[in-house]
Amino acid sequence: MIHPDCKQAIIDRARIDEVLGDFMSLKKAGVNYKGCCPFHNEKTPSFVVSPAKGIYKCFGCGKAGNAVGFVMEHEKMSFTDALKYIAKKYNIAVVETHLSDEEKQHFDLRESLQVVNSFANEYFANNLHNTADGKAIALSYFKERGFTEETIKQFQLGYCLEQKDAFTQAALAAGYKLEYLEKTGLTITADYGNVDRFRGRVMFPIHSLSGAVIGFGGRIVGANPDKKFAKYLNSPESEIYNKSKTLYGIYFARTEIAKQDQCILVEGYTDVISMHQAGVRNVVASSGTSLTVEQIRLIQKFTNNVLVVYDGDMAGIKAALRGINIILEQGMNVSVLLLPDGDDPDSFARKHSADELHNYIKTHKTDFITFKTQLFAGETQNDPIERAKLINDVVRTISLIPDPVTQMVYVEECSKILKISQDVLLKQLQKITQTAILQTHNRPQQQTPTPEQIAEITEQNDTMGIISTEKELLRLLIVYGDKTVDLPILPQPIHVHEYLHKEIIDGGMCLQQDVFPAMFREYFEHNLQQHDASQYFNNHHNQQCAAWSIDFVKKSMDMTLSGIWKKRQSAYETEEQKLSTVVWDTIATYKRKRLEDEYKALANQLKNPLSPEELLHITAELAKKKKTIQNITKELKHVV
Ligand code: CTP
Ligand code: MN
Repeated sequence: MIHPDCKQAIIDRARIDEVLGDFMSLKKAGVNYKGCCPFHNEKTPSFVVSPAKGIYKCFGCGKAGNAVGFVMEHEKMSFTDALKYIAKKYNIAVVETHLSDEEKQHFDLRESLQVVNSFANEYFANNLHNTADGKAIALSYFKERGFTEETIKQFQLGYCLEQKDAFTQAALAAGYKLEYLEKTGLTITADYGNVDRFRGRVMFPIHSLSGAVIGFGGRIVGANPDKKFAKYLNSPESEIYNKSKTLYGIYFARTEIAKQDQCILVEGYTDVISMHQAGVRNVVASSGTSLTVEQIRLIQKFTNNVLVVYDGDMAGIKAALRGINIILEQGMNVSVLLLPDGDDPDSFARKHSADELHNYIKTHKTDFITFKTQLFAGETQNDPIERAKLINDVVRTISLIPDPVTQMVYVEECSKILKISQDVLLKQLQKITQTAILQTHNRPQQQTPTPEQIAEITEQNDTMGIISTEKELLRLLIVYGDKTVDLPILPQPIHVHEYLHKEIIDGGMCLQQDVFPAMFREYFEHNLQQHDASQYFNNHHNQQCAAWSIDFVKKSMDMTLSGIWKKRQSAYETEEQKLSTVVWDTIATYKRKRLEDEYKALANQLKNPLSPEELLHITAELAKKKKTIQNITKELKHVV
């Protein structure tokens, strides 16, 4: 922790225009400065910095803050790290306080490992550029791969000499402790002596978010390396290098990712480098590990949009499919770009100009549903079982998305692409979600429920079902009572209020839950179809009625206004437009639920001692009800 006095000293010393000036270009404008906002894309400057007030404000995107806040936001740093950054800029010694001995040791260890890595990084780069072997073997290899001098410098590529312990010797001679050389994994200690882990390999340093070298990847030189040796070797896990939390290239890509509000995810070191060189700079690599949640979180600091670009081979496709799921699970948006088979982003980027590359990305990136559909297109075209599998797979993936509105957008998309009704998809989605919930709930106890428990759960579910259906009926009545619907069983269109009256009241039914029966009755008693029913109920003296009504109106507006229905203009569909289906579906569902209740009550009578006549009568009634329930179920399916 930084000492409070020191904190204040740093903040006092920081001049906002000087601090911001390191990250963006500012022009004097009177007493203030102006520039193009680094937080959103703009061509005319609307970002104003006031040295007098010590703040910045963007009139375009509304972001505002002080110097420390800017560094935190722009560099995605913690408060402490931002302060330390500013302290360094102004050569202020940071006074830490309250570090326990253990913390201090740990801190020191990390620092030491980083220093060793930094030395190694320079040493390897020097080998590459200034030794005969480096130039002949490594530099020529990089050049053959198409990397320019500038790229090689930017990514700080290097070479570890063939000689078994050249690096270790050099590091020891420079005063670095063997302990740290070993902990970083650069040196492997053995009975027969010390060996450089990366001997004879070209080196790719791996940078942390703030640019520290935390590890290395070393590649065998040559296009088709001997299968006996791993093509790439990586630093082992250490206090500073945690493979699953690291993304290769994040240090070079972070600003561009934020600016473009998109992160391109590739698999390998060379993919990142070649894409960069081709002018696509918002690229990072998972570096051979399968994508982890921590890596996704790292991206999430900068953007919510990930474009997955993997090889077109089987392994690449598998990795992409897995990646898609975990990106969606983290609540991020994902799109996919499949390259022609045989290409990886590296080879593809080298074959095309920057323009072609941008263009290809723009025209070929698809959402994950289209991606999956295309993937299985061959198999699913004529085979209904394969098609069902694909649909299930897509719905399963949709079920991973945490936000229900986004889920709905994808359901709509999926319905269009796979030509299957939204209702079917929604039902399937619900089923998967429920199973998932049940599974999580059941896992800890690992016990099969007793019949009593099952009965209880069924009962609860059922009442819930009735309540929500009654709610839905009442909502349709209040919001759409004066609208007409066209139903398949009726010769001509009918008003919603008329139809509900016919089915519920004339059908001898009565809503049962909460204040619903009273509201239902009141609607007809007051002839509300001729007035604004929702306005009437929204301002009802009974607070409960008013609350329900407001809830209904809100829900109907959501249904109509939310992205679900208006995402694509072509598919613009308000709830009103599909009102006939909704009304029909709700009534049928309600009738079925009520019948099921009656069936259950009747079946319960079978537990009592009965005369043979009674028994006969009840079984006959049960059979009749069962038949009606089946019919309604069929009708419901038919509508779907
Ligand atoms: N990788 C690894 N260890 C291996 C093979 C691969 O760590 N033995 C990681 C590396 O980060 C590599 C990535 O997985 O960049 C992708 O592997 P691959 O596609 O095989 O390599 P490329 O990136 O295509 O490398 P190159 O073009 O140099 O062959
Ligand atoms: Mn490659």
